[in-house]
Parts: sequence; C-alpha cells; structure tokens
Amino acid sequence: MQRYYITTPIYYVNDVPHIGHAYTTLAADVLARFHRLNGADVMFLTGTDEHGQKVEKSARDHNIHPKEYTDKVSESFRELNKLLNISNDDFIRTSEQRHIDGSIALWNKLVENGHIYLDNYKGWYSVRDEAFYQESELREDGTAPTGAPVEWVEEPSYFFNLSKWQDKLLAFYNENPDFILPLYRRNEVIKFVEGGLNDLSISRTSFKWGIPIPGNPSHVMYVWLDALANYITALGYPNCKNDFADYWPANLHIVGKDILRFHAIYWPAFLMAADIELPKRIFAHGWWTNEGEKISKSLGNTIDPVALINDYGQDYCRYYLMREVIFGNDGNFSKQSFVNIINSELANKVGNLVQRTLSIIHKNFGGEIPHVIDINDIYSKYELLNLAASIHEISIKHINNQEINQVLDKIIDLAEEANNFITVNAPWSLIKSDIKQTQEILYVLCEAIRHLGLYLLPFIPNTAKEMLLLLDYDEEKHNFKFIGKDGALKAGTKIPDLKILFHRLET
Ligand code: MSP
Repeated sequence: MQRYYITTPIYYVNDVPHIGHAYTTLAADVLARFHRLNGADVMFLTGTDEHGQKVEKSARDHNIHPKEYTDKVSESFRELNKLLNISNDDFIRTSEQRHIDGSIALWNKLVENGHIYLDNYKGWYSVRDEAFYQESELREDGTAPTGAPVEWVEEPSYFFNLSKWQDKLLAFYNENPDFILPLYRRNEVIKFVEGGLNDLSISRTSFKWGIPIPGNPSHVMYVWLDALANYITALGYPNCKNDFADYWPANLHIVGKDILRFHAIYWPAFLMAADIELPKRIFAHGWWTNEGEKISKSLGNTIDPVALINDYGQDYCRYYLMREVIFGNDGNFSKQSFVNIINSELANKVGNLVQRTLSIIHKNFGGEIPHVIDINDIYSKYELLNLAASIHEISIKHINNQEINQVLDKIIDLAEEANNFITVNAPWSLIKSDIKQTQEILYVLCEAIRHLGLYLLPFIPNTAKEMLLLLDYDEEKHNFKFIGKDGALKAGTKIPDLKILFHRLET
C-alpha cells in the first residue's frame, strides 16, 4: 500500500491559535483526507512547539511555570483541531519525553559526525521570530526583515557547520526541482543559499526553557533544531524501525512562507549531516490579511478561528478557507466574500442540485432511486457522467502539486454542468410525457450528486457524508475506489427524507 506522511508546522504555544494556524492545519487535513480516500496509508502529524525564549517569556507574563502554561495552550490547539474536524493521526508536543530523547539523539549524531563545535555567538536575535539575523539583513529602523524587534546577544554557543552545506544543498535543489514549491519560493531559497551561508548557532545559555545539551546542561538546544526534529521524533527516531521505516522520508511538510528558510535550508542540512534521507517536498503557503489589513495583535484584528466556527459552522469555514485563495498565494479574509462563496457555490450550485433532483424523486417516484435498464449503457450515453468520473484523475494530479483550490474548480464545474443538465432536460415536465426517460435523467443526476459527495469529502467531510447518505449510499463506499460506474447507485434503493444541506448565509 502506498504510504503518505504529511506534517504541519508545530505551533508556538505563546498564545491561543489564530486563523493562520487553522489554515495551515486545514490544508494539511484536506490533503491527508484526499490521500486516505485514494487508498494510501496516511500518517498526518501536527503538534505544538513548546520550548524557547518566546514561550518562556509568555509563561512569565502569565505568572505561571512554562510547563503549566504550555499544557494549557497546547490543549487549545487540540480543541481547535476537534472543532475543525482535523484528522491528524498523531499530535506531538516538544515537551514530551519521546521528543526530547529523539532530539538529543539527533544532536549526538551531529556531534559524532563532526558537524558541531563550541564557540561564542555575537549578533542579533529576534525572540518573536526565534531567529538569528545578520546585521546586513536588518531594516533601516533596526528591526528584523519581518518587522520583529531584535536584541544584541553575546553568549557561548554551539554551532552547526551550515556553511559547509551550501554546495550540497544547491545540488540537491537542482536534482529535485520540485522539492520546494511554489516555484517562485524555490527561487528565493536558491538565491539566499547562493548568497552564502553562515554557521548556525544551535544552543543558547541565557535562559533555561529548552532541551539541555548532553554533557553541557548550561546550554539549551536552539528552539528551531528542537522543533524541526519533531518530524522524525514523532516516528520514533532514533529507532529507525517501525513508523520511521514505514513513513520516513516525509512526502510533504506544509509550512507558511515565513518559515520556509528553516525548512528548506536548515532542516535538509541537519538531515544530510545526520545521514538521514531528506523529505520529498516542502510547500510554502501564503499569509492572510483581514479585510485588506495585515493581521496583528497590536491592530486588534486577529481572527479567532473558534468564533468563526461558532458563527458559520465547521464545514463552511473549511470550504471558505480552502476556496478563497490559491494555495501558495497570500489571501484576504473578507466576510462579504465568505458569504458570496458559500451562497454561490455550496448553496446555489451544489445544494440546489440536490434539492431539485431529490424532491422530484420523493414526489413522483416514492423516494426510490429510479430504475434504469443498463448502467453501462447510461455511462456511455451521458457525457455528464464521464465528466463526473474523469475528475478523479485530474484531482490526483492537482493534489500531487498541492493545487487544492483547482480541485474545487473541477468540483464546482461538475455541479454547474449537472444544474445545466437538469434545466435542459426539465424532468418536471418530461414526466408528463415520458416516465422512462425521466427516470433515466434523474438517475444520471443522482450519480452526479454521488460524485459530488465523494469529491467533497476531503473538504467538507460532515456535509459531504450527509449528502451521500441522502442517497442512502453506504458508508463503506465513501472512498474514491467507488468513483465511476463500479460504485453506481442501486436502482430501487429507498432514500431517506430530504433535508436542506446548505443554508444560505445572510449578508
Ligand atoms: N513553531 C514554529 C514552527 C516550527 S515547525 C518545525 C512557528 N510557529 S507559529 O505558531 O508561529 O506559526 C505556525 C504557522 O502559522 C506558520 O506556518 C505560519 O506561516 C502560520 N501563520 C501565522 N500567521 C499567519 C497568517 N496571518 N496567515 C497564514 N498563515 C500564518 O512558526
């Protein structure tokens, strides 16, 4: 069986989750669900990044011990996952022993291979970004390129010999042209690496909240080395059997564009240095603004995903977030656009189709899937059904390039075509002259609805399931094996009472 390992970044627990976190996790969830429905054995990992100065400071601001603080905030990420119907197979916390042990093993391996040395760090550090910056990278006002404040740091530090990996990294990008996507992000990374890499400070001595360095516990591990290691410690590293053997290398790390450098440069260098295979792909998505403005706590315009789900419901939020932006691009959250997208696509196209088709069946055919003579015959006769079945292959191609939104384009095209089909064939009047033909038309429409339900499962799992159940389509068949005529509906099946799946939203 094909295996598929997909990860989200692990989230800092310095604050409660916001829309950016929900977005990254949701995109990974849609991809994980798609691959599962397609028959893959999926491992979907998410979790929380709990060490470092930023989290320690936040705990101090709240007057509680970092452990107690991280327990609490980490739980709010799990709660959000539940509310969003996230199907992760594991949730790793970097404060867990399995992670600490694995990270130390990785450190030891880097030492053993001769890639770590002790020296002094002198330079700029941003606690907000948990990142070191060169003087030359700072903006004119003295802040980090991200706008975060920086502070001068001078302390003893262990270093990783990153500069030695420049050529190897460039060769790897060259041999694996789709290792970093989208391509314009890949070009940015390559340019950065071509500009030369400095050795990386990988331990800190000015605070305590981190993984102590073996043999020298006055140092704690740099939070990014600690955090990146989660992708292998969750699989049991340094034990290279079991999950590690099954799922590593990861098929896909999904990250936001702000943390691409850590994933596309540092992480592959650490892995090469530790003789570990590299992941197959890093995909960087864009950032959301809120009604045109940059989201920030100081502007007070953060979007609380929990409130959003309470207001609009889980599946509407899932659909909107995946639909508004082409995955990879920046996007703008707008309430008006939210309402428009849901009403025009889910309510007017998909919902309407279901209502129009099933209500005729309930009214005129005793609520039974209409009888047709030969399913093979129907499939070759009606272009709509070829279209329905063909979306599967097209979606696989899109999903393999993380083109999530393009899959929705295809699904909505199908709904549109099916609505045209019902309009053109007008079963409500055809029934007066030709019952047999009306049954055939309605059967074709039910099949179109079945396909829509199957294709929507990764995006709006609950509603898509309800949609399939309105056709009494057996839950065992809710996967992509049953796309096309092999999974066709059984004529004569009694279907349950109709209900409205997609309520229109008011502006
Ligand atoms: N802890 C690190 C990741 C370590 S992974 C080994 C981290 N955490 S984070 O909580 O700050 O951010 C996690 C993710 O949220 C990032 O992928 C980031 O891009 C995303 N977002 C934060 N704000 C965002 C928006 N406004 N819009 C979209 N995503 C954004 O970084």
